[in-house]
Amino acid sequence: MAPDFSSNAFKHLRTGYLPPDNEDDIEDVRASLTHRPRRLRRLPALREMVRETRLSVRQLVQPMFVRPGKGVRTPIASMPGQFQLSIDEAVRECREVLELGIPGVILFGIPESKDEKGSEGYAEDGIIARALREIKAECPELLLWADVCLCEYTSHGHCGILRGEEVANDETVRILSREAVVYAEAGADIIAPSDMMDGRVGAIRRALDAAGHTHVPIASYAVKYASAFYGPFREAAESAPQFGDRRGYQMDPANTDEALREAALDLQEGADMLLVKPALPFLDVLHRVKTAFRVPTVAYNVSGEYAMVHAAAQAGWLDGGAAMMEALLSIRRAGADIIITYHARDAARLLQKAKA
Ligand code: PBG
Repeated sequence: MAPDFSSNAFKHLRTGYLPPDNEDDIEDVRASLTHRPRRLRRLPALREMVRETRLSVRQLVQPMFVRPGKGVRTPIASMPGQFQLSIDEAVRECREVLELGIPGVILFGIPESKDEKGSEGYAEDGIIARALREIKAECPELLLWADVCLCEYTSHGHCGILRGEEVANDETVRILSREAVVYAEAGADIIAPSDMMDGRVGAIRRALDAAGHTHVPIASYAVKYASAFYGPFREAAESAPQFGDRRGYQMDPANTDEALREAALDLQEGADMLLVKPALPFLDVLHRVKTAFRVPTVAYNVSGEYAMVHAAAQAGWLDGGAAMMEALLSIRRAGADIIITYHARDAARLLQKAKA
């Protein structure tokens, strides 16, 4: 039954009633307080039983940056604990990820060389294609997510090919479809286009199907904002645009109705999962997308969100572990089924400790 807020039990809310110090008045409070929400918060086991949202290591995906070479582990300054890894090191890291119970990784590539058309992004012996093949061979049960985009591979750092200073949509979509097929052929389990070109989900679906990959799902970065929180990623992936910015194709942070339109289009074109990115500054959008479409929804807890927690923890201003867990839980609460996060390994360790 809904509580009756006009009753005496809620007098303290209506009148700003302060707890008195005299015994009789305390009796009064006791008599008037039928509802005491604290009852369910007192015992740890009971708190856990009535918990509405849970975070499991099985919902996390660890991003990984792969670069040429052997035995290379280059730390990323703005993302403590994250590295650019050569393929052999990435394989080692993938084994560790699996041991921690994390079911998947998403790969980003730093190519040998970049050009106007981002050729290494869709070359069969490009950095990501090779990484996918080797990781699949060594860790067959790990879910391999392939980010499909050109910004890491183009000399100008934009997410597609240029006509003048514009990113040319339809030409880029053709290339992205090729990239997706190359990655599926190399062993990608999930194709995740992050470029924000119009119509790319449909084109990628048709290309995958034509190449015999009808079973490979598309997790579309349907709702991706032009965000300042990608800063550290662009250092990590060496993919900052050399001129201008990405506001001509990524979304305006002021918009949420537009997020629903983007998501609807991608579902129509055949997306199997929707992705919202960044996560924490856009929890309202995440919630709207999940509520409107009820399809598996992924949140990308991006590089800048990770960097903020680490910077504050390093300065001694926050308990980094606790802030991380609260942030991840809030992303789940807002509606994410899956979270892509650089915190995945640390969170897995804390979740294990909490169980032990
Ligand atoms: C584009 C891509 C970006 C990220 C994931 N895919 C960067 C961008 O759009 O500039 C950012 C992820 C992060 O900040 O952690 N391929």
